[in-house]
Order: sequence, then C-alpha cells, then structure tokens
Amino acid sequence: MADLAHAVHGPRDGPVVVLLHGFPFDRAMWRFQLGALTGNGYRVVLPDLPGAGQTDVDAAATVDSMADDVERLLVRLKIGKATVVGFSMGGYVALAFAVRHASKLAGLVLIDTRSGADTAEAKAKRDATITDVQAHGVRGLATGMLPKQLTETTRTQQRLLVDEVRAMMLRQPKAGVAAALGALRDRPDRTDALLGITAPSLVLVGEHDPITPPSDAQAMASALPKSTHKVIPGAAHLTPMEQPRLVTEALLDWLESHAPPA
Ligand code: MLT
Repeated sequence: MADLAHAVHGPRDGPVVVLLHGFPFDRAMWRFQLGALTGNGYRVVLPDLPGAGQTDVDAAATVDSMADDVERLLVRLKIGKATVVGFSMGGYVALAFAVRHASKLAGLVLIDTRSGADTAEAKAKRDATITDVQAHGVRGLATGMLPKQLTETTRTQQRLLVDEVRAMMLRQPKAGVAAALGALRDRPDRTDALLGITAPSLVLVGEHDPITPPSDAQAMASALPKSTHKVIPGAAHLTPMEQPRLVTEALLDWLESHAPPA
C-alpha cells in the first residue's frame, strides 16, 4: 500500500481522467496529453505509481495493490467515477482497477499494454533484471529499453526526445524499479476478465511496438465488449511521447463521444 504522489489539473467540475504511467517512467510521460485534455474541459489526475517519481517505494507492491492505491487516491480527492487511462504497466494497473473497482470506472483506455501474464521465460528475465538493477542501478535497463520505446527513425531524428526519455528512466530509484519488476513479473492473467468489463474502452497501440505488439491489442479489443481500437503509425512502445498528436487526438475523439464535458 502506498500514498501516491500526484498532480491534479483542469476544471474542478470536468469529467475525471486518470493517467497511469508505464515502467520505468513517472507521470511526466503524459506531458504532451495534459494541456489538450485540460483545455478541452477534463480534470486530469496524474499519480506517480509506487517507487516512481515522487511516490515512496512499496517493496510489496503488486498491480492489484497499485490499483487499490489509485482507488484510495480517488476517495481522498472525493472523485466518484473516472476514466482510467493506462500505458503499459499503467495498463496492467488500469485493468486491475477495472476488475477490482468496476463501480468507479467511467471508461477504460489501454495503451501499448496486454492482458496476459508473463511466461516462465519472461519471469526469469525479470529476475535477472532485478539482480542487475540491484547490483548496478538502472543504466543497463535504460540502455536496453530505449530501442524498444522509440523507433529507429525517432531515435536518429529527435535527439531531445531521446534524451528526455532516457533521463526519465535514469531518475527512477533502483529500489523502486526492482519492486516494480517484481509486480510486473507476478501480475495475473486478466484475459478472461476482459469479457466482463462493461465500461466503454479504447485500445491504442504503436504500429511497431515490440514489447506489447499490435496482435495483443487486437486480441484485447476483440474481447472487450464495448471497445474502439486504433493502431498508431510511426510508433514503437512509447506512443504517448513518440506520436503525441495522434495519441492525444485519438484519446480526445473517444472521450468526447463517451465522457464529454457538460
Ligand atoms: C512498461 O512499459 O510499462 C513495461 O515495459 C511493461 C512490461 O515490461 O511488461
């Protein structure tokens, strides 16, 4: 259990949108979406998940406990219902929220994420990464992940963005990164639960995402009862930062038809 550091922006009476970041990032990854959402009348809640950004490490964190942390934050902010948007690890947490706190879910947006659990091979890789991070810090992890977050074109043409993404990974504390890896490794398979999610949903994925590929997104969209599905061209995993305009447009279009401001 953790008290989530967070920021809240936008009109007090706007429909609430919660943005859950991925791994190993923090809430700063949503900077491109923030202004467009608040400018269009939405109230945006931006938590740092446990062990990331300004939130303390929770060595016992799971994706379920993180979803409960988000729910407790909404209670603290006196928010009844929210659209929960999750990118990758944030998507695992958003799915956990949808299952554990269904009555509080106005809508669900899953970006570059999946419903399945880690395979035995993936779990072993997480364990090796935990050992490496604990011994040497996050630099090796950041170097290995960068080519999966952004396409080669972006990495060669947008040096400032590359530096920003790398710096965001490097500033996460190694104890938080190790704890999050454990939570990722142990997350349950939520594929069967998709069928029971009755809130409207949007599934977005980068055309070239090598971590959670378009086939995973397609499978989730087919299982979710009320889903819209879009592939974001020219993006690898980190679509909200690599193709910010396309992601923001897709999000706003969908929000306007499912949770419009009064
Ligand atoms: C993320 O982007 O949050 C992680 O890469 C997800 C994962 O490793 O499963």
